[in-house]
Amino acid sequence: MAGDKAVAQVWASRWVFILAATGSAVGLGNIWKFPYMTGVYGGGAFVLMYLLCIALVGMPVMLAETIIGRRGRHSPVVSLQHLAAEQGASSRWAYGAVMGLVCGLLILSFYSVVAGWSLSYIIDMGKGTFSGISGEQAGAAFGALTADPVKLILFHTVFMLMTAWVITRGVVAGLERALRWMMPVLFLLLLILLGYSLTTGHFMQGVEFLFHFDPAKVSEGLLPALGHAFFTLSVGVGSIMAFGAYMPRRAPVGATILTVGLLDTVVALGAGLALFPIVFAAGLEPGAGPGLMFVTLPVAFGNIAFGQVMGVVFFVLVAVAAWSSSISMLEPAVAYFSDRHAGGRVRFTWLLALVCWVLGIGTVLSFNQWAELKFFVSGSDGFALWAWGVEGGKTFFDLVDYLTSRIMLPLGGLIFVLFAGWILGRAVLREELEVQHPLLLNGLLLLLRVVAPAGILVVFVTELLK
Ligand code: PHE
Repeated sequence: MAGDKAVAQVWASRWVFILAATGSAVGLGNIWKFPYMTGVYGGGAFVLMYLLCIALVGMPVMLAETIIGRRGRHSPVVSLQHLAAEQGASSRWAYGAVMGLVCGLLILSFYSVVAGWSLSYIIDMGKGTFSGISGEQAGAAFGALTADPVKLILFHTVFMLMTAWVITRGVVAGLERALRWMMPVLFLLLLILLGYSLTTGHFMQGVEFLFHFDPAKVSEGLLPALGHAFFTLSVGVGSIMAFGAYMPRRAPVGATILTVGLLDTVVALGAGLALFPIVFAAGLEPGAGPGLMFVTLPVAFGNIAFGQVMGVVFFVLVAVAAWSSSISMLEPAVAYFSDRHAGGRVRFTWLLALVCWVLGIGTVLSFNQWAELKFFVSGSDGFALWAWGVEGGKTFFDLVDYLTSRIMLPLGGLIFVLFAGWILGRAVLREELEVQHPLLLNGLLLLLRVVAPAGILVVFVTELLK
């Protein structure tokens, strides 16, 4: 079976792993989702919990995935099967990776729609549509885009084709080469945006919003923060595990993943710091939801020198950052199915992309035709699986987002971290991490075995009791 063939090639250095993992981690999650969630869940309390979840849960899961991948040297499902067999444990652990692969497909379905918005904004920026625009007008422009299902489906299709194309052509290496210079440019443009934010006169209001801790808001934002920590680091899916399979034997795992986690967090906080002062200066609503970035940025770029050019470049970079993330959502599933049926890689890629594309239509319609269709509605007259035109409940997009970020990612992460901590155990960890100091090894073991799993469980239980 092709799947039993160990990964033959290994990346030239750990920098390639850092690049691929950062390419996967940095994406719409940082620039689009993090700011809008911070707005919805009330600012500082959400940010603090997000940071805690990254440090205590997300990073341990990333460590677990990297070690499992590097030791397994196969696609995630097969790696888990092999390692479980090696340790005399049940092969059922591999279901964690199966769930991850399904989760990756579900995420891709809506991710592609939102990435499509960025594609549309590249064109609008280029046409100068936003020059001199006010906050209100930018809101109307975003409203007009999301009200147009045909346009949304068009851009969603283009983005899905881009993603599938990279995977079928195996041009992942090419994309990596591109990321090498695009990532620094993205950082630079974020800095320029930050510079603009500083001139709005509302910078401190933005800082206050992001970092003022209000304990009353903790309980509401706890599960969202945990879910987003997974989403933004690309963990819980198996993406990082898949990359870990190509990591050279002699590479310091700890320092490597710390770099990835740090870069990801810096981009998210940078995006937040850049956006919120603009939100306040333009009189926009921080809790506006998924449209936040698409309303805020046109105001910034529409009102600065060279804004038209910088705006185009910015949205191109957002689209590329999304692109390098989206391929890592699809790849685990493609790898799994083409492992099972040799020679079918291209066919499977198109088939899976088609499935995601169809699901994505549901997200497209959530913003227009199906805006009134709500799932999981619990109101005064009981609970309904779905209902039309009611208050509360979740749109199709909300539902897929909830299912993936708040349930499947944490659950997948829990399985991976338990597997690394309890099944692989101390001897394997010592070998993989090359840590000699018993105190450090015990500390890491404690993180994997107790702290991270307990963190996930505590959040789940708190949510259930709410
Ligand atoms: N981490 C990516 C982002 O922040 C999204 C992602 C999730 C990628 C899961 C791969 C797997 O945009």
